[in-house]
Amino acid sequence: MADNIVKAFTELAPRYEKTMDRELRFMWGLPYRDFVNRLVQVAEVEEGSRILDIATGTAVIPLSIGAEVRDSVQVVGLDITPAMLRQGMRNVRRAPSTAHIDLVCGSAMSVSLADGVFDMVVCGLAMHHLNVARTLSEIGRVLTEDGRLNLGVVGVPLFWRSWWGEKIVVAGIRAFYRFTHGGPRAQAESDAFYNLHTGEEWRAILSASGFVDIEITEIPSRFRWGPNALFVKARLASPAQ
Ligand SMILES: C[S@@+](CC[C@H](N)C(=O)[O-])C[C@H]1O[C@@H](n2cnc3c(N)ncnc32)[C@H](O)[C@@H]1O
Repeated sequence: MADNIVKAFTELAPRYEKTMDRELRFMWGLPYRDFVNRLVQVAEVEEGSRILDIATGTAVIPLSIGAEVRDSVQVVGLDITPAMLRQGMRNVRRAPSTAHIDLVCGSAMSVSLADGVFDMVVCGLAMHHLNVARTLSEIGRVLTEDGRLNLGVVGVPLFWRSWWGEKIVVAGIRAFYRFTHGGPRAQAESDAFYNLHTGEEWRAILSASGFVDIEITEIPSRFRWGPNALFVKARLASPAQ
């Protein structure tokens, strides 16, 4: 599965941001940059924070954090696809940001970073490509006590949970991406269907994984049975809780 994801995002890397912009405008009527900026604003990053951006892609989220909070913040962007990180390095070098941004190649499911070092973890548009339980366990490990989590995820409507919904949507995703991007992305996006959740499911998953103070805001889909955008905020419960 990871090989396929790396192949899909290696092909996509040179036109990733333009492609996301087109897809997010289509689904939510929202430019990609506005989605990222909204995720960062909802996160309310504090000065001096140490932040891990899981599946950072081309480093657009770290750069948006840097623009918001400037040089007092330290961001590590982690991603499994070297081509996305190379594009990210170019973006970081070109940007006027003075924030301290490091990009690291590795998997979100086994993060090679020390325990309890990050005040916040963010992840945008990527949880559906990850094993959610394993990633949340790694997030819980690297966060400080009381550390915060901010996700920008694709949320699913209840129709997608029905037998017909699943068949129609998986076939539709496969056909759409095969036609527009080719096999690897079609496979990566149709596999990702099974990691997509409704807002209520996210609440249950996060509380079972030791998170509290869960808040979810939503941008509805432009289509009746389309996916919505969810901004999910939570805090790691302290051991006493
Ligand atoms: C849709 S992009 C999101 C990029 C970025 N977060 C953004 O908001 O634009 C998904 C990213 O997830 C990364 N990814 C997928 N599986 C991963 C894994 N197991 N560990 C780390 N990154 C992963 C891909 O390489 C890709 O860059």
